[in-house]
Amino acid sequence: MKTVIIYATKHGCSEKCAKWLSGKLSGRVDLHNLKMGDNVDLAQYDRVILGGSIYAGRMLKEVTAFCQNRLDQLKEKRLGLFTCGMNQKEAEAQLKAAYPEELLNRAAVADCFGGEYNLKEMNFFERTIVKMVARMEAKENNSEPPDLSRSFSTVSEEKMDRFAQKMG
Ligand SMILES: Cc1cc2nc3c(=O)[nH]c(=O)nc-3n(C[C@H](O)[C@H](O)[C@H](O)COP(=O)(O)O)c2cc1C
Repeated sequence: MKTVIIYATKHGCSEKCAKWLSGKLSGRVDLHNLKMGDNVDLAQYDRVILGGSIYAGRMLKEVTAFCQNRLDQLKEKRLGLFTCGMNQKEAEAQLKAAYPEELLNRAAVADCFGGEYNLKEMNFFERTIVKMVARMEAKENNSEPPDLSRSFSTVSEEKMDRFAQKMG
């Protein structure tokens, strides 16, 4: 049984999730970062996992393009789809918008694992948006905004574990 986990990431969260999953799956597991190109020979794999992060409500463009270009091949595989994102309320809607319906319907499993904010990795524009969103969410929920001076993660190992089991 051979598996490939194909992902795109801006600040590393989706890559961490991809690596974490690779340790949970049986057989040979290869990792492919779409930033290095989309030249993956899908024919040699039984299982394909696709993942990437959400920015301004949308999946990173490398994942979207890969789904469009390789739709027919992907439909033939045992498929897992994941997203990384911080907006828990919109997680399901964002997941649905991130992948073609044909793939979502055929996937053995599809989930949002949560996300990570690492302000040190972000540019000024991103830091400003993240701080603003965190303050707004805290106000809405009547809670304290998270301490963003350190990296802040909502990634759920439980969700990733369940995902890996369903792929099996
Ligand atoms: C400028 C900006 C916009 C974002 N927009 C969204 C969003 O619309 N929905 C969401 O769920 N998360 C959003 N996020 C959170 C990212 O999806 C989250 O940080 C994710 O873990 C990033 O993964 P990556 O490091 O693999 O790129 C945003 C983050 C930044 C910095």
